[in-house]
Amino acid sequence: MLGYQLLPALWSIGFSLAAAASQQDCPVADVSAIAHTGDSVGEEVVHNNVTLYVTGEPSDKAVLYLTDIYGIQLLENRLLADSFGRAGYFVVAPDLFNGTPSTLDLNEMSPTQLKSFLAAVTPEETDALIAVGVDYLRNVKNITKIATTGYCFGGRFAFRWLSAGTGINVGFAAHPSNLQNTEITAVKGAVGVAAADGDSLMPPARRAEIEALLLNTTQPYTLSLYGSVSHGFGVRANVSDPRQKFGKEQAFFQAVRWFDAWL
Ligand SMILES: *[C@@H]1O[C@H](CO)[C@@H](O)[C@H](O)[C@H]1NC(C)=O
Ligand SMILES: *[C@@H]1O[C@H](CO)[C@@H](O)[C@H](O)[C@H]1NC(C)=O
Ligand SMILES: *[C@@H]1O[C@H](CO)[C@@H](O)[C@H](O)[C@H]1NC(C)=O
Ligand SMILES: *[C@@H]1O[C@H](CO)[C@@H](O)[C@H](O)[C@H]1NC(C)=O
Repeated sequence: MLGYQLLPALWSIGFSLAAAASQQDCPVADVSAIAHTGDSVGEEVVHNNVTLYVTGEPSDKAVLYLTDIYGIQLLENRLLADSFGRAGYFVVAPDLFNGTPSTLDLNEMSPTQLKSFLAAVTPEETDALIAVGVDYLRNVKNITKIATTGYCFGGRFAFRWLSAGTGINVGFAAHPSNLQNTEITAVKGAVGVAAADGDSLMPPARRAEIEALLLNTTQPYTLSLYGSVSHGFGVRANVSDPRQKFGKEQAFFQAVRWFDAWL
């Protein structure tokens, strides 16, 4: 009789303890790896005449971080690279614009300005800079397990570096721009994508096309759509807006989970 009466109380105490423990111990609930503000903690290293932003503790697995048009000079790019470092990866982000990233906001740029900025470098030139980052990981840090993550401009290159012969077989791209169909069909590894509902560079019809192409690769893939966010949210979300903050954080954890699963 007594036990019967006590049971609900014990249940509720047990439940509260379990809830408290799960918040402290369960890594799924721990979002502390991602930082939106503060100083970046990595350093710049020059390797083969290319500046690399390097961050994270020594590890046997690495993330090759490919920036948007604002480059490694943008604090938010360095902070996000640092966040991959806290998630257990050694991180290298090559300076994709040789010290001269875009100074204009994507939303302020006219299509002509954006086109001329992008036309200033060929994909092959960008690939050559990325290759220096890969060389640094392989031949200076001796890391063989490399995943690549890319944002906007860099998202396209995350796909390009998943093609045959690169030795990279896990990738992630948030709101990739200028991505070519042949670059999707060429992937030879697991690819994750984060898309924004408010992305004029990847409207719903293009997103559906990308999904169909990913399906055809027969590689492991995932594509997540985030609501109330716009192009660039994976890096430059307004984190004062709860929906954008959630989208940016979830896209980061989507990438980390993807790498943890497939690298
Ligand atoms: C190194 O980079 C600088 C600036 O980008 C360039 O002027 C120089 O010619 C480069 N040197 C070599 C050896 O590539
Ligand atoms: C990488 O390997 C080379 C050659 O074996 C070695 O000299 C170097 O110390 C290693 N570097 C690191 C960071 O382990
Ligand atoms: C996927 O592959 C099928 C069979 O080869 C083809 O008919 C279809 O057009 C492909 N889809 C895309 C989006 O390329
Ligand atoms: C960021 O979001 C907050 C909250 O929604 C809003 O008040 C603020 O104006 C936004 N900042 C910018 C620069 O859009």
